[in-house]
Amino acid sequence: MSTPGGRRVLVLNGPNLGRLGTREPAVYGSATYADLVTLCKATGEELGLDVEVRQTDHEGELIGWVHEACDNQQPVVLNAAAFTHYSIALMDALKMRTAPLVEVHISNIAARGEAEPFRSRSYITPVADGIIAGFGFQSYVLALRAVVSLLDSS
Ligand code: DQA
Repeated sequence: MSTPGGRRVLVLNGPNLGRLGTREPAVYGSATYADLVTLCKATGEELGLDVEVRQTDHEGELIGWVHEACDNQQPVVLNAAAFTHYSIALMDALKMRTAPLVEVHISNIAARGEAEPFRSRSYITPVADGIIAGFGFQSYVLALRAVVSLLDSS
């Protein structure tokens, strides 16, 4: 399903996102993580990107993938999930980035900050090109489009 010769993009997902489908469907919807992977790959094909989607529940593994992207000058679409709100280590890794970085969230974290103030703070936003949040899985489609626009304008 990858686009041979397409520009490579990593779509990285943090903790609990592998549980999409059963995890808090009222917040994250009922589509599964596998559905998300399919959507990202199909969007990549449409946009001429070679998209690889990964998910981990482990902060160190996610940081290792960011290092890999830095070394390979690879753009990243990142949903750091709860790490967004407290991982200075992840922010420090992202400061070394060498290619576009788009932060993405399924839910609108700013709006959720009313009830859960910790969600309004993102350690990713200050080191990203931009943030897309609140559009469900479409947030990823928009983020991949943003990567194309960043690559085309660089
Ligand atoms: C999330 C929002 C985070 O606050 C939360 O911890 C997640 C998912 C989102 O995609 O809406 O795990 O990143």
